[in-house]
Amino acid sequence: MNTSNRIIIFDTTLRDGEQSPGVSLNMAEKLQIGRQLEKLGVDVLEAGFPVASQGDFEGVKRLADEIRGLQVAALARSSQKDIDIAWDAIKNGANPRIHVFLATSDIHLKYKLNKTREEALEIARSAVGYAAKYTSNVEFSAEDASRSDLDYLCKVFETVIDAGARTVNLPDTVGYAISWDFARIVKYVMENTSNIYKAILSVHCHNDLGLATANVLSALQMGARQVECTVNGIGERAGNTALEEVVMAIRTRKDLMSFETGIVTENITATSRLVSMLTGMMVQPNKAIVGANAFAHESGIHQDGVLKERTTYEIMDPKDIGLTSGKLVLGKHSGRHALKKHIEEMGYSITDAELDSVFVKFKQLADKKKEVFPEDIEILLSGDSVISETFRLSYLNITAGSGVRPTATIAIEINGQEIEDAVIGVGPIDAAFKAVAQLTQTKSTLDKFYINAITGGTDAQGEVSVRISENELIANGYGVDPDILTASVKAYINALNRMEHLKQKGADKKVGCMCC
Ligand code: KIV
Ligand code: ZN
Repeated sequence: MNTSNRIIIFDTTLRDGEQSPGVSLNMAEKLQIGRQLEKLGVDVLEAGFPVASQGDFEGVKRLADEIRGLQVAALARSSQKDIDIAWDAIKNGANPRIHVFLATSDIHLKYKLNKTREEALEIARSAVGYAAKYTSNVEFSAEDASRSDLDYLCKVFETVIDAGARTVNLPDTVGYAISWDFARIVKYVMENTSNIYKAILSVHCHNDLGLATANVLSALQMGARQVECTVNGIGERAGNTALEEVVMAIRTRKDLMSFETGIVTENITATSRLVSMLTGMMVQPNKAIVGANAFAHESGIHQDGVLKERTTYEIMDPKDIGLTSGKLVLGKHSGRHALKKHIEEMGYSITDAELDSVFVKFKQLADKKKEVFPEDIEILLSGDSVISETFRLSYLNITAGSGVRPTATIAIEINGQEIEDAVIGVGPIDAAFKAVAQLTQTKSTLDKFYINAITGGTDAQGEVSVRISENELIANGYGVDPDILTASVKAYINALNRMEHLKQKGADKKVGCMCC
């Protein structure tokens, strides 16, 4: 049994999280999230799957080259080619990790890999041995471990540890595990893998039954010491274990768990907002820890209780996750230094060049909006400039109201050339989106449209999130503006730009899937 109580936080927002439908991050966005994760204090950052495409390779390489305060991991299937490419991407990192995986469940062996257990065991042994020639920092994941035969799983772990794996990961790939049964699986592995003391046992849970966090906590009780997770729990299908949930459960229930993490919890809110803005995946209001309602008390009895003594109805102090919501920070007379100080206090780091551009946008916003809140500043920090733009909105005029035919006149810059059109629609959004589609000659379907006021007050900025699809591709888009129609058009154009990025990424794909 592992006796250290330090839990390693392995963040896979940029790999498993980026596999969420509609999410596609460009290089600048990946770097921005990577730097924020470093600030948050994660131990290992899984930067991507380098063999997947040239773009993925370059993204992983930049992250490994530039982010030095943590371990950068690259995913590889159990093949020499994948491992060579993964290593090539991360080799200049401060402490690079090769993460090799192979499925071990009979279902995956039979239907996906068409391999016997013996053949798979040999593939895993040889892949880990090959990766260990590059670095001693090798992790092996037994994909679909929670549905694997347990004695076989232990044999695989024993073999890969002998071959050089220093971390062995037990994923609940399809989110099938139930907490007490997952605890039994982890306990079995800890007790029946003879050389497990030479490695760290990791868990990686998906949230298909809403049990990812509970399953991880059960696994930690049984000796697992690494948690693979994502910010806001984003990821394939129902997502991965949410980093903030595990970390705050550990922190809040110290009476039950004497674990420690290196997470600077005060940076959780800032990180959550950044990931949500850049991925276009809005956080549901009732999401634990980072949802807009997570610390809101609606009922009179609760409000009264909290006013008398916060702990009557609050188990966590909002300040511990960096929640400063509702506090006025700046106005239009605030200067550059004050802005920088507030940004740093909010948990973000900012270079002088970034500050220059944020300050210009801050002044423009402060001219429109008397009170500028932390949430407004976060939006400015997410910076639409980081998104590579094929299409750029240059002009927007919408007329709507009772007795008026909703009409949108829009000008868009496409590869530096401006074109303009006016379109009538059923409502103002319909008119505007039709005009954008016509100008950009795109054929995406609008699948989802969400609108939200970022702060209170009638002058609050509106944030809009959209999801569009075209053929098999899905893209999310995000836009924010004090004018909700402008925010909507920005979100739509942002999604179209991401769709263009996805089409390009598709064209440069070298492998089609993560399986075999
Ligand atoms: O869910 C899973 O099994 C994975 C592995 C590649 C670790 O993401
Ligand atoms: Zn996964």
